[in-house]
Order: sequence, then structure tokens, then C-alpha cells
Amino acid sequence: AATNRLKIATIPGDGIGREVVPEGMRVLEAAGRRFNIAFQFDEVDWSCERYKKLGSMMPADGLEQFRNHDAVFLGAVGWPEVPDHVSLWGLLIPIRREYQQYANVRPVRLLKGITSPLAGRGPEDIDFYVVRENVEGEYSEVGGRVYRGTEDEVAIQEAVFTRRGTDRILRYAFELARTRPRRHVTSATKSNGIIHSMPFWDERFAAIKAEYPDIATSQYHIDILTAHFVQHPDWFDVVVGSNLFGDILSDLGPAVAGSIGIAPSGNINPERTFPSMFEPVHGSAPDIAGKGIANPIGQIWSAAMMLEHLGHSDAAARIIEAIETVIADPASRTRDMGGRANTAECGRAIAEVVAG
Ligand code: NAI
Ligand code: MG
Repeated sequence: AATNRLKIATIPGDGIGREVVPEGMRVLEAAGRRFNIAFQFDEVDWSCERYKKLGSMMPADGLEQFRNHDAVFLGAVGWPEVPDHVSLWGLLIPIRREYQQYANVRPVRLLKGITSPLAGRGPEDIDFYVVRENVEGEYSEVGGRVYRGTEDEVAIQEAVFTRRGTDRILRYAFELARTRPRRHVTSATKSNGIIHSMPFWDERFAAIKAEYPDIATSQYHIDILTAHFVQHPDWFDVVVGSNLFGDILSDLGPAVAGSIGIAPSGNINPERTFPSMFEPVHGSAPDIAGKGIANPIGQIWSAAMMLEHLGHSDAAARIIEAIETVIADPASRTRDMGGRANTAECGRAIAEVVAG
């Protein structure tokens, strides 16, 4: 059941994360006033800047601090002076793994008022979810390098697919499909080229599918699937993939829906034994950071996903409607969407519509 007091761990992170997170909070506060939700935002400076000062992205007991919070609200992490694998493995991946956020969920929806880069497509054609396995698969620490720096150098990277991890992400996708009118799941595979893990993935997909006779399915190899995203976005409802395939699809999906700047995501712990984490799909955008021009909609839409997850569907729906209302007016759009509004102007406009 939804509680009306929400404790939110807030991590603005780096670059434009610090510019868009305040707009997400502004819109959440507006929704809170209207729907009687009180937010406690506990903000921390975990980031590459902290890494440069103190030598770690977050404190050693960092994840303990937020263990009992309702959710984590994150901006973006990454900065040019710190290698990306350091920032990713020092913050985002530990949160996703320790909090068992094994489902990375990204809605792909062509909002009213946005033009897709795909010719002739409207909101009725592009409305699906990408569900990415978020804690195992190709992104593993198993492997190593030998004979470094010599002609004989070897790099070996192992992928890890467990039955438990595979079954639960597939089930998550089928359960999500049950909440949607089309009730369809597509599996991303590559069992022709990858001959151990992907045939296993296909077998588990067939086994879980048998538990859901009410859900229609299809499966494609990842290569042709990327082409179908572009040529037939209307074929998809819920698309499930391994960590790597899901990562690729979940950037391609938002791109066909208009702009990386508006795309949201949830890192979900379906059992709710740990907080889930909500963040925009985009990164810290060093090329535009500090200018106040970043699009805050990815962050604001992520706030709506967070409210939905925490049982406040009315407030979530109100925020999405407000986004659609505001982007219908070119003057309220940020530059990446062809407008001239700055980050705060766009955020304020959405907050005002939410407040009503
Ligand atoms: P990016 O998403 O930061 O930027 C890609 C392009 O999109 C840039 O031209 C940027 O200006 C534009 N863009 C992104 N978000 C925007 C917004 N809200 N409004 C307007 N334009 C926007 O991806 P990139 O450049 O590959 O990565 C930059 C840093 O961010 C790296 O350190 C990377 O590791 C990190 N990163 C972090 C993520 C996370 O925290 N989950 C996700 C992706 C990247
Ligand atoms: Mg990615």
C-alpha cells in the first residue's frame, strides 16, 4: 500500500545530473502538494568529484545508509577525468547489485508533441518497454588479462547466466506484459552465434512462456531486432534482453522515440526487499554541463516512474500529462528539442501544470 511519507535517497552525481535532479525534485514537490505526499530528500555528493577529493565514489558504508529508504533518485554519474569503468563500478553497479535491482525497465513512448526521427510515426506506433537484465550476464567481473603489453597479450571476459537470474527477468517481462493491453513479449537472443548462454536463454524463455499461456511471444536475434526497432516499432510491447542486449536496445528505443534527453528508467527490485533506483537514460553530458540548458524531462519522467512504483499512480499520471502539455508549446522546450527554454524554465513549467 502507498505511504504518504517518502524517504528518497538523492544522488545528483556529475555534470547535468546536478542540473536536472533539482527539476525532478521541484516537480515531485508540486505533485506532493497536490496528492498529499511528503518527501524527505536525503541528498549525498557521491560522484566523480568526490572520487577526485577522497578517492572513492561513495563512502564504504554508503549502501547501508539508504537500505531502508523508499527509493533512490539519481541524476548521472561520469566525468572525463575519471575512467568510466571506475565511476560505473564504484557507484552505479554496486547499487544495482547490492540492492538486487535486477530489472532495468525503460518505457519507450513517443509522447504527444514530439516528432520521431522515424518518418510518419505517431504516438500510436511507438509505445513499448525494454526490460534489461541488470545484475549478471555479459557485465561480469569474471575473466582476466595475461601477458599485458606484449605481443602475446590475451583478454578473457566471461558472461554469467544463472537460471535464477534468467528466469526472474523473463518472469518480470511476462508480468509486465500482463498489465498491458497487447500482452506481448519479445525475447532478444543470439543463439546462432553465442552457443552456450543464448541457447540456455532461449530454453528458459520457452519454459517461462509456458507459464503464461495468455501472453503472445516472439523472438529475434539481436542484429535483426535492432533493424525491426527502426522499421517496425509498432511490433513491440515488452522486449526482454540480457544485460548487454538490453543495454543496447534501451538506448536505441528512446532514440526512436525522439530524444535521449527525455528518456527515463527504473532499476527495479521487484520483491521490494531493497529500494529501487530511478534515473534518466542519459549520462552527465560534459559537453553541455554547467550551461543550464539540459533537458530535465528524462529526470522528471523518472520521478513519475518512481511514484508509480511506490503506489502513487495518480501523481505519476499527472506528471506525464504535464510533460505532454508543456512540450506541446515550442517555447517551453529545451534546445535539444528545438526550443529555447533553459533547464529551470522547462522544469518550472511542468511543475506549474502539475500543481494546476
Ligand atoms: P550522455 O548521455 O551524457 O551524452 C550524449 C549526448 O546527448 C551529448 O551530446 C549530450 O549533450 C546529449 N544529452 C544527454 N542528455 C541530455 C539532456 N538531458 N539534454 C540535452 N542533451 C543531452 O552520454 P555520453 O557522452 O556517452 O557520456 C557522458 C558521461 O556520462 C560518461 O562519463 C558516461 O560514462 C556517463 N554516463 C552515465 C550514465 C548514468 O549515470 N547512468 C549513463 C550514460 C553515460
Ligand atoms: Mg547504456
